[in-house]
Amino acid sequence: MVAAVSISQVHKHYGNLHALRGVDFEIPRGSFFGLLGPNGAGKSTLINIMAGLVRATQGTVHILGNDVRHQWRQARHSLGVVPQELAIDPFFTVSEILRLQSGYFGLGQKNQPWIEELLHILNLSDKANTNSQELSGGMRRRVLIAQALVHKPSVVVLDEPTAGVDVELRKALWVFANRLHQNGHTIVLTTHYIEEAENLCEQIAILNQGQLVALDSKSALLSHYPFRLLRLTLTQPNAQIPIALQDKIQSFTDGELILRLHRDNDPIGTILESLRAANIHFSDLHTEEPGLEEVFMSLTRKK
Ligand SMILES: Nc1ncnc2c1ncn2[C@@H]1O[C@H](COP(=O)(O)OP(=O)(O)OP(=O)(O)O)[C@@H](O)[C@H]1O
Ligand SMILES: [Mg+2]
Repeated sequence: MVAAVSISQVHKHYGNLHALRGVDFEIPRGSFFGLLGPNGAGKSTLINIMAGLVRATQGTVHILGNDVRHQWRQARHSLGVVPQELAIDPFFTVSEILRLQSGYFGLGQKNQPWIEELLHILNLSDKANTNSQELSGGMRRRVLIAQALVHKPSVVVLDEPTAGVDVELRKALWVFANRLHQNGHTIVLTTHYIEEAENLCEQIAILNQGQLVALDSKSALLSHYPFRLLRLTLTQPNAQIPIALQDKIQSFTDGELILRLHRDNDPIGTILESLRAANIHFSDLHTEEPGLEEVFMSLTRKK
């Protein structure tokens, strides 16, 4: 089956800045795919290349088999991108924006019911005739989402859709994204809320400094991570942690010590023995399996 998105050896230079350094992966059709990475990793650049808004310096991107440069019209039809920036045409009302977008894809009056449905789902019906300049940030975000979905694209890319969005809209977006996914759409999500990706996405790619550093199912990413956490409540909040354990400290505040332990090389018995030898006492302890956040931090840590 042809991939929803196929990215092949993509490089992007902005002057001297090498923003994407040979990125190569596929997004399977029908998947709920998380594209994660710290600020400046190159996520939006990659998304803008998919959308045909930025040209790759080298390499190719196909959307459902169509090259975004040479078959841009077909590629564009299969893709809906919700951009990170809240750029919206200030001269039109919400309805007009959606009708114009619909016209751009050659969809006439017969698309009106879908536009009405989008307005309803995104809680914009009462803003339909409001000029876009008069909308709040969260409402603009909703308009951008509606705009991206006007032509019912097979592949939906959401570039940080929940940044700066209130809890209610965030939850509504999760429900909506899941519904699109269940209806067979491929969903690509970037977010800085790792928990959000952990809850929603089946497949995760992590970009760091323009390179892919991980690509796997969520469960495989977690199971290949060789660390777990040991959380201890110390009886002396300012205890001096022995040197042998210092490089394992994940955090140490208010007497709560969290150690990051290698599954094979750091037996808990040995760790507890070192603490006892240093005269450090604790009133509670438990181990925790890592979450996606730990995996993300370990793969994108600045060297
Ligand atoms: N139009 C541009 N001109 C020059 N440099 C750019 C441009 N757009 C992005 N960059 C640079 O490319 C790099 C990647 O930026 P990009 O916006 O793709 O990152 P990102 O992963 O989306 O980050 P964020 O999480 O902050 O949204 C950054 O160093 C950025 O400064
Ligand atoms: Mg970005």
